[in-house]
Amino acid sequence: MTTHTSTAQRSSKYPTTIGIDVGGTGMKGGLVRLGSGPKAGTLRGDRFRIPTPQPAMPEPVAATLAAITAELDGREKAPKPSAPLGVCFPSIVKDGVCLSANNIDHTWIGTDLRGTFEEHLRRPVTVVNDADAAGLAEARYGAGRGVRGLVHVITLGTGIGGAMIHDGMLVPNFEVGSLELDGVMAESRASAKARERDQLSWAEYAERLQRFFSHVERIFSPDLFIVGGGISKRPDDYLPLLRLRTPIVPAQLQNNAGIVGAALAAHGSLADGN
Ligand code: BGC
Repeated sequence: MTTHTSTAQRSSKYPTTIGIDVGGTGMKGGLVRLGSGPKAGTLRGDRFRIPTPQPAMPEPVAATLAAITAELDGREKAPKPSAPLGVCFPSIVKDGVCLSANNIDHTWIGTDLRGTFEEHLRRPVTVVNDADAAGLAEARYGAGRGVRGLVHVITLGTGIGGAMIHDGMLVPNFEVGSLELDGVMAESRASAKARERDQLSWAEYAERLQRFFSHVERIFSPDLFIVGGGISKRPDDYLPLLRLRTPIVPAQLQNNAGIVGAALAAHGSLADGN
């Protein structure tokens, strides 16, 4: 009993916010411990996942968000059901509105994501780009923690996402995968999906990444690259092959970066509490 009480007291220093990551195949949510301390940036309990409805249109996606939220609301230590909640989404998100659809259905363009989700969830919702969410999480709790200057978090997945963080402040919608490179959109050649599609060896894929990262480095002169997305789990296969001026390291939060960053975005700016 004593142990139980003291555990609850210890963990109460972490404000808890719900974060949900909307992906092409799965929608994942969790209760995120924020604030600072050894457990900050981790999830309370397991994450909860529901496959993304297909076709992934606004109404069914919003209904699935509501189902995930209901499950998380029912958990011990959930924030109150009127508390703000964060969602990350794989597109440009400007003032809560979806402005691009590289890897999602085109009907999303122009959709008021925030308005639609708030209507279904009946609470304040903050919507951010998925790579921006990963960037917020890495900068606050992961590989970019305490790093000053310009940090680029680049996610390699179905597309290429990018987050630009300067002295701890996010500059949103850094659509680095849409940079034109060698006459095509960079993500069509250098995403993790392109590696699988073109059946590239790691050495062949590293050549494409080299071209991409050199280009980004040349334009933005970052102080640190952090590589996220599914393949950040196997950094030894390609990171040692890259020749860059800028240090390049794998992301640390991996699968939960989107959830944690969405919660951070809902809770306040990255600079809060830094
Ligand atoms: C989209 C970005 C997104 C990235 C990762 C790209 O295709 O344009 O907005 O962040 O994929 O999901």
